[in-house]
Order: sequence, then C-alpha cells, then structure tokens
Amino acid sequence: MTDPIIVMKQQVGKAAAEYIESNSIIGLGTGSTTAYAIEHIGKRLQSGTLKNIVGIPTSFQAEVLAKQYNIPLSTLDMVDHIDIAIDGADEVDPYKNLIKGGGAAHTQEKIVDSLAKKFIVVVDGNKMVDKLGSTVPVPVEVIPKALTPVIRQLKELGGSPDLRMGVKKAGPVVTDQGNLIIDTKFDYVNDPKSLEAIINNIPGVLDNGLFVDVADLILIGEIIEDVPVVR
Ligand code: A5P
Repeated sequence: MTDPIIVMKQQVGKAAAEYIESNSIIGLGTGSTTAYAIEHIGKRLQSGTLKNIVGIPTSFQAEVLAKQYNIPLSTLDMVDHIDIAIDGADEVDPYKNLIKGGGAAHTQEKIVDSLAKKFIVVVDGNKMVDKLGSTVPVPVEVIPKALTPVIRQLKELGGSPDLRMGVKKAGPVVTDQGNLIIDTKFDYVNDPKSLEAIINNIPGVLDNGLFVDVADLILIGEIIEDVPVVR
C-alpha cells in the first residue's frame, strides 16, 4: 500500500496544478510536494487539457523534473511576467508568511515566487505554525568569503547559526549559485518582515528564507482518520 503521506503530497500537488490555465507562464518550485505538481502539469500537457505553457524553474531540481515531464522551459530574461507559481514551504504562519530554503533554493524561489501574479504554496499540515521559527531555522545564503563575519553578525541578532553540511558529501552544502547556507535558529521570529530585511542587509548575504507578503493561497494536505485530504 502506498504511504498515505506520499498520497497526501500527490493530492496537494495535483490540486495546485489544476489552477494552471493554458497560455500561461508558470514558476516551478522546489521540493518533494511541488515535484508532484510538476508531474501533474506534465500529465495535463500530455493529455491536452493544458496547452501552450512555459515553466520558469526555481532550481536545478525543478529544471530536471520539468525536462523529465516535457514541460517547455524559459528563463527570467525571456519573459516579462509570471502568471502563477507553485512552491513548497518549511513553515507557514497564519498570515501566509513562510520559511523556505529547506532545499537550499530559497534565493531563486523568492525571485520567481514574488514575481508571480498568484503564488500557491503546497504543504502538509505539519508545516502550519503560530509563529515562524517554531520548528525550523531561517536559511541564509551567503557568499563563501563572507561566512565567518556573517555568522558573527547572525549571533549578534540573537540567532544560533549553523553551517549546513551535506548528507552524502564531505563538506558543506553548496547552492545552485555556488554559495553556502547558514541555518540560523531563532527562538521565535516576532517580526518576520523586519528580520528578513535586517538579515539581507548584512554584507555577503544573498537572501534568506523568510517570505513575507508573497504567498496568495496555501493548499494544505492532511491525513484525517487515515485518509489524505486537501484543504
Ligand atoms: C526548497 O528550498 C524549499 O523552500 C522547499 O520548497 C521546501 O523545503 C518544501 O519541501 P517539501 O515539499 O519537500 O517539504
């Protein structure tokens, strides 16, 4: 029997992909839940229920998946708008603010997701929190030469910074841009908008995983009495 969590992620991804209309430019997010949305977009293209779309990937992972499902791709240089973006998140607060970057892709994700006229977030119910920072750190992408001073300044902001290390690799995680990720745990993020700006103001920081006032719609997958549902 298929794992109900997988089925739930498939359902959320599929529900998001159903929002896409023909003749549109789509931001393609990163992560295991969005992967099912990308798969369903590919299936809709193949069946003919969706026509003439172009995807803008937010990561190498999204690009590879989109190619696998024969989704035509473009870049931000070639389009003047994005109609809709679908992406995952690591935490979502009641105001639709997010922490992203569990896949080290938040910099490109923020560029694409914030350009979209409609940004749909696909998550499982465990990602919903009262306050950001409750369960995950804030990922901070930093250029390698600035690692030590940025770590020092994140500590001064009250964070506990930790260089993200590779799982199947000796050494640190390297982003699609060739940078490093400092996962920075804060007890709670009381003012995400101001913390996002303060962190991004540290020289050497490219962007952090706080997404404030970017998301339009949150699709949440849950398992209720062993049955996966989307709300
Ligand atoms: C990628 O950097 C993240 O922002 C992902 O979107 C996030 O980690 C969600 O991934 P899952 O859908 O696998 O939980």
